[in-house]
Amino acid sequence: MTSPTPRQLFVTTALPYANGPFHIGHIMEYIQADIWVRFQRMRGHEVNFVGADDAHGAPIMIAAEKANVTPQAFVANIAAGRAQYLKGFHIAFDNWHSTDGPENHALSQEIYRRLRDDAKLITTRTVEQFYDPVKEMFLPDRYIKGECPKCGAADQYGDSCENCSAVYTPTDLKNPFSTLTGATPVLRSSEHYFFQLSDPRCREFLREWALDSKRLQPEVANKAREWLEGDTGLGDWDISRDAPYFGIEIPDAPGKYFYVWLDAPIGYLASLKNYFDKTGRDFDAFMADPSTEQYHFIGKDITYFHTLFWPAMLKFSGMKVPDNVFVHGFITVSGEKMSKSRGTGISPLRYLDVGMNPEWLRYYIAAKLSAKVEDVDFNPDDFVARVNSDLIGKYINIASRAAGFITKRFDGQVSTEWARSGDAFLDHLRNVSDELASLYEGREYGKALRLVMERADAVNAYVDANKPWELAKDAANNDRLQEVCSRLLEAFRILTIYLKPVLPELARQVEALLNVGPLAWDQVSTPLPHGHRVNPYVHLMTRVDPKMLDALFEPPAAAAADDAGAAAQSGAAASEAMAPIAPEIKIDDFARIDLRIALIVNCEAVEGSDKLLRLTLDVGEGKTRNVFSGIKSAYSPEQLVGKLTVMVANLAPRKMKFGLSEGMVLAASAADGKDPGLYILTPWPGARPGMRIS
Ligand code: MSP
Ligand code: ZN
Repeated sequence: MTSPTPRQLFVTTALPYANGPFHIGHIMEYIQADIWVRFQRMRGHEVNFVGADDAHGAPIMIAAEKANVTPQAFVANIAAGRAQYLKGFHIAFDNWHSTDGPENHALSQEIYRRLRDDAKLITTRTVEQFYDPVKEMFLPDRYIKGECPKCGAADQYGDSCENCSAVYTPTDLKNPFSTLTGATPVLRSSEHYFFQLSDPRCREFLREWALDSKRLQPEVANKAREWLEGDTGLGDWDISRDAPYFGIEIPDAPGKYFYVWLDAPIGYLASLKNYFDKTGRDFDAFMADPSTEQYHFIGKDITYFHTLFWPAMLKFSGMKVPDNVFVHGFITVSGEKMSKSRGTGISPLRYLDVGMNPEWLRYYIAAKLSAKVEDVDFNPDDFVARVNSDLIGKYINIASRAAGFITKRFDGQVSTEWARSGDAFLDHLRNVSDELASLYEGREYGKALRLVMERADAVNAYVDANKPWELAKDAANNDRLQEVCSRLLEAFRILTIYLKPVLPELARQVEALLNVGPLAWDQVSTPLPHGHRVNPYVHLMTRVDPKMLDALFEPPAAAAADDAGAAAQSGAAASEAMAPIAPEIKIDDFARIDLRIALIVNCEAVEGSDKLLRLTLDVGEGKTRNVFSGIKSAYSPEQLVGKLTVMVANLAPRKMKFGLSEGMVLAASAADGKDPGLYILTPWPGARPGMRIS
């Protein structure tokens, strides 16, 4: 049943940082939101579904600088690579924009002015912070390292120690240094702008919005309760950063910029405004309309910003507040968390490149999603089983078993006279329509798909009971055969409606096969007319070949090369990772470096180190070498054993905490210091251990 009045929806996904291509976590979020959006559209509702790149902030500014391009050019480059993923996985955004667009500059400044002048919730305060005297900028914590104040371990970040897990602030570090220049940072004070979240009005509003209204998922509400009612309560929020900063200037505050998290969510509105301006619609009227509903899909790590800062910003600037924020967990691969630098072992582009069907992934992820903030695991065996036995075995096969006879024996015509007077078999399928609708509405996709597959089981039982292939043997059964197959096609049509939010491209093919227009939800109860002609059956979807998963999980070195190729073709990654070329050298300088092909005979984790792997290398010397390499974030030992790589063979041995390192393995990494991504080198087939590289 379609709701009587069409709803008017504004839906977003989190805005990805424009410092790298999409990873599988992003794709999972888009799939979750896209299914919801498509479902709403099938119900006859209006959905405005937008995304954008989150362009601002220090890391992007610094990455651009290293790549020798302007931040604008840097993010434009990343933006150019987005479409292939969105198209590839059938993500139906109406618009994709950037937080650096003019709409966002205007909206952010306007919202700030209202917070300052109307709500009187902006204040300033002097803040003392580390400053890099060489780079002449204040240093975000992540760019400060030093010795742990507790255990003395070297090379620790400004917030916590990887060696002893102590937690502290950058000013506690001993012998701190700037990771940008190596300089010793100095303390400097500067005036910062604050959003006064500690104001009782904010607390009161947020209590209502986040807690009393019961809108949030229970786990999310619990978090919000801790934040709102915990010992410390809400503090004021520092929303300014000093130049140099890639961001939006704060009005009447020369040299000050909005902290990226202030303007990032406003980017949701900016993308919608950009879309409305392009399509001649009235953005202000839409946002002022009380019947507009606003929903944000986000991951669990950014809940704080979306359930506290964002609603408060909107409320006290007199804007519409979100109706809800839908929080999902993280995707893991075979139980392993994604590494910050490499994403997971699954590269979305590689997934498409090895010929895997995007709808398999949509189906698999949907089957594992619920309304809870739970992590979702991608397990290769489970993936093959679910797709092949459920999607293909239970659903697709219905069409292949029925459509052929209709084409061959009945000139494509279905007979549905019988359907008029009610039909218990089909009613059994139709009567889950409302339940399924509420499961989709509540983002309980896993439950929805289980219910659909249960019904598909019933349809398959009908096939087995009526055996169309037996009926086909005797022309005397013609009418019966046509009825059975027509009923099966009708069942298939209904199941297709149920699966269409998840499988939009497949549904399009089915619509073509059935010779009908786009299927909407309420067509569940409208069977194909008697005598309707369907088109000849063409194969709809193939099974997953488990070999494809081997290709998907090939050693990342090979996978990375593929991705780079794909991105370069689309013009996406040209300057993304381009650090300036080092000063010129002579051939003799190069000849002093003895590079050799090395066989990784053994590889193991190093106890007590998060970064290192211990490699046993054979460079054809009749003995092996022990080499420590900081590539643990990118590779597991099993991936490396038996592979060939390249090592510096004449490097002076180095004594390390864990033992002697007799050489160095080479790896490529991107310019972006935050997300380096490591890729060791592999020679072309045929190279042998010990060969010199020249
Ligand atoms: N730029 C901010 C969001 C600003 S929203 C106004 C940001 N960007 S992000 O690129 O780091 O993350 C974008 C989205 O991807 C977030 O919702 C985040 O939770 C989600 N994910 C990042 N890693 C993920 C997984 N491993 N699994 C699922 N989603 C994950 O945060
Ligand atoms: Zn320590």
